Amino acid sequence: MSNLTEAPRPSLLSDQSLSVVQATAPVVAAHADEITARFYPRMFAAHPELLRVFNQGNQATGEQSKALAGSVVAYAVQLIDPEAPSFDHVMRRIAYKHVSLGIRPEQYTIVGEHLLASVGEILGDAVTPEIAAAWSEVYWLFALQLVAEEARLYQEANVHPSQPTRPYRVVRRIEETADVISLVLEPADGGALPAIAPGQYVSVFVDLPDGDRQPRQYTVSSTAVRTRLQITVRRVRGVNGAPDGRVSSYLHDQIEIGDQLDVSAPAGDFVLTPTDSPLLLASAGAGITTVLPIVEHIARTQPQRPVIVAHADRRAQDHALRDTVLHLGREIDDFTSYTWYETLDEGDTRSRQGFIDLSDIPLPNDIQVFTCGPLPFMRLVRSTLLDRGVPPARIRYEVFGPDLWAAQTAPNAGA
Ligand SMILES: Cc1cc2nc3c(=O)[nH]c(=O)nc-3n(C[C@H](O)[C@H](O)[C@H](O)COP(=O)(O)OP(=O)(O)OC[C@H]3O[C@@H](n4cnc5c(N)ncnc54)[C@H](O)[C@@H]3O)c2cc1C
Ligand code: HEM
Repeated sequence: MSNLTEAPRPSLLSDQSLSVVQATAPVVAAHADEITARFYPRMFAAHPELLRVFNQGNQATGEQSKALAGSVVAYAVQLIDPEAPSFDHVMRRIAYKHVSLGIRPEQYTIVGEHLLASVGEILGDAVTPEIAAAWSEVYWLFALQLVAEEARLYQEANVHPSQPTRPYRVVRRIEETADVISLVLEPADGGALPAIAPGQYVSVFVDLPDGDRQPRQYTVSSTAVRTRLQITVRRVRGVNGAPDGRVSSYLHDQIEIGDQLDVSAPAGDFVLTPTDSPLLLASAGAGITTVLPIVEHIARTQPQRPVIVAHADRRAQDHALRDTVLHLGREIDDFTSYTWYETLDEGDTRSRQGFIDLSDIPLPNDIQVFTCGPLPFMRLVRSTLLDRGVPPARIRYEVFGPDLWAAQTAPNAGA
């Protein structure tokens, strides 16, 4: 976050490019979605092998295209505005995602070529050589910072980008609800589990029956058995004519005990900071997968730390991992649980009906908030808590898709 006592950062851009980017940023921003929508088909036509690394669901919905556009525009803005909020959290999120997918430095040349060519195709003659050079500088500054951060993360995880995954064997499959399963996975190479911070995810690569290979991210929902990790997967059903989710359906329909999956090293910075301030864990639907590992960790290491869990779901029978979370909560000295269901079962007097409403629950002063669920849910949680005086830096969020929010707000900054 910007700090009144801090001097403004000098821009990393050359003086010449700075004035060009200042002058053209509004036009590029206005066309950013068009540029990235042109970019992906262009790049995939030249490099079809990349179709196996990019999430094709996010391509179909256009979400990845929007996330890329949003991040490049936000990056350019913070280059030209020294007072702009820190960009570090966006950078970290992208770097972690890249590392979980094995993105390599030399691939930045491919992305750069097609992204900058798409700028030219969309903006046409307006792109003078001077403008092209200035935006190339923006791209390469961004790329260099990502490559550096990714090199650090690869080294930290002891992973080489050419081999970002390890084989894991499915040792248990648990039917949590009608739409949710947990898969308990053990390294098939006989090695130890990597260090996993509660809240981190792994990328799971699957070979689909039609020959496609696709990765998806799943939060490590438990490491209760120290030699195994658990993921918990909600089956995504297509609505309004859209197809069912490819990887979640495959995991639900095809994966059995004894099968192997290719799993990345843990990634992500939706993790606890080492303090003892009280926690509010606000989740909806599949977001519960981030709550269980945090509650598990607190029960194990800081049972005196107060924890409030607040979960919203369609109905009680859709609320996955509920009993496990409540059971672990019994090991925490000060543990409170709230639930909201859109449809309340008759006789359920412990839950509340409707959407989550945090406006009247008792909140300790120095609460730290972790929220995970659909974007409208997290916006509601955030705005209610801001109204109640919780500082934005104490509200962290995790998006189960390309982060369309990061560029607009800076909720993860400095927490
Ligand atoms: C950091 C992170 C952590 C995550 N943790 C978890 C977790 O713990 N548990 C969990 O269940 N999920 C988690 N997810 C979500 C998960 O990664 C997948 O996105 C989810 O399982 C859906 O993948 P899929 O292949 O089944 O769906 P996809 O095939 O990717 O489809 C996704 C959506 O796009 C729509 N779609 C696809 N193609 C089209 C088309 N042609 N036209 C229109 N719409 C289309 C589908 O209908 C669906 O709604 C996480 C995601 C992230 C980024
Ligand atoms: C400066 C250059 C780049 C920028 C600004 C950038 C930006 C992003 C952003 C914003 C995301 C979404 C992160 C999120 O989940 O919130 C992302 C994901 C991703 N990036 Fe990059 N990226 C760059 C370079 C690359 C390169 C070189 C590759 C390799 C070909 C690559 C491959 C991917 C893949 C596969 C994903 C996941 C896509 C998905 O899940 O839909 N990126 N990137």
